Amino acid sequence: MELATTLKSQAVRSGVRQAGINPNHWYAVGWAKQISVGQVIQVVIWQQAIAVYRDANGTLHALEDACPHKGVELHRGKVQGQHLVCRYHGWEFNASGQCVSIPYLLEGQKLPCAQARSYPIQEKYGLIWVFPGEAAIAVDHELPVMKEYAESGWLQVPISGHFQAHFSICNENSMDVFHGFLHENLQGWFNPRLLKLSETDHAVQAEYQVSYKGRMAKFLGLSERADQVTTLPITVEYRYPHYQSNLQGISALYLMRLPVSPVESRSFALFFFRIRLPQWLLKGLEPLLQVLLERFVLMKFLSQDIEMMESEQRQYSASPQRRYVEINPAIIAVQRLIVRQFERFTQSSSQTNMNGHKELDSVVSRSVAVPQHSFAPDEQRSDRPDSV
Ligand code: FES
Ligand SMILES: [Fe+2]
Repeated sequence: MELATTLKSQAVRSGVRQAGINPNHWYAVGWAKQISVGQVIQVVIWQQAIAVYRDANGTLHALEDACPHKGVELHRGKVQGQHLVCRYHGWEFNASGQCVSIPYLLEGQKLPCAQARSYPIQEKYGLIWVFPGEAAIAVDHELPVMKEYAESGWLQVPISGHFQAHFSICNENSMDVFHGFLHENLQGWFNPRLLKLSETDHAVQAEYQVSYKGRMAKFLGLSERADQVTTLPITVEYRYPHYQSNLQGISALYLMRLPVSPVESRSFALFFFRIRLPQWLLKGLEPLLQVLLERFVLMKFLSQDIEMMESEQRQYSASPQRRYVEINPAIIAVQRLIVRQFERFTQSSSQTNMNGHKELDSVVSRSVAVPQHSFAPDEQRSDRPDSV
């Protein structure tokens, strides 16, 4: 559906800051290189703690991070072959989460029926992806397609972010091209215009036009000379629950959002920059260029964004009843999509439960839980973005 691009004021959609996630999507939870063979870590997707481990064959598995014996977190245990062994009493679980051995079981004694929930997991684009919803439908859902990942001529820069803010606040920041003002000192962009906006059940796509000027623009290949103004179209798409944006073959961004709790989110982003260098030279320079771009460009932008998002969250937590005004229809469309996806999930899961089919256990109740506390300024905030 095509939407009007006229900027007129609207109230921020109430409820968006309390929306949970639709867990029936793949969520990126970390970088593949973070977990070596035999290692186990904890990841959290919307208050579901999950133990992710890499077995002796290098294959990843994901189990609910709670031992069925006494609830101890399984990520505190150790990997043994293809299994995960709980640290407390040594109960051993296979990749499906089933208890297959107890060290002190008497001879002839039967294993109890003890099962930890397992989650679909896969590794692609250097990222680990987990499907926290209904496992049976994971195969029907696709990951974002990053065509630049396998193409030559692109410099790839992975960036992690950590925000003390609800994921809707972060997602609105990613769709918001009208905040070039914030990045003024970094010679960001200016004169933005929303040219086209469309919305489907699963996605919001906005086409903007923005202008660039300055040394940063030249360095990133956006203009030929630092004193020259270049105006370019940029497409930003929020395909729930992730983002991608494209700047006319010059750069591309894939931004995977990980909602952790109602006041905490993470992101895993892959930036691609078109670099006009021979492939052998680009490969050789890649580690250096990655560090330079991460440290001196991208993290500077991200730090400024984090300051704004966390400030927005603190204000919301302090006065949730307060109403705000928005004039960018793309932001309103993003809010609509977040609420719609959450409602779709809660409706479908309550129907499933009413029909007496399977229980989607704690996902629903945890998704709607919103803490009642508010933050004092500077409490719980991260001062710096996570590094990769
Ligand atoms: S709590 Fe895990 S084995 Fe006892
Ligand atoms: Fe920004």
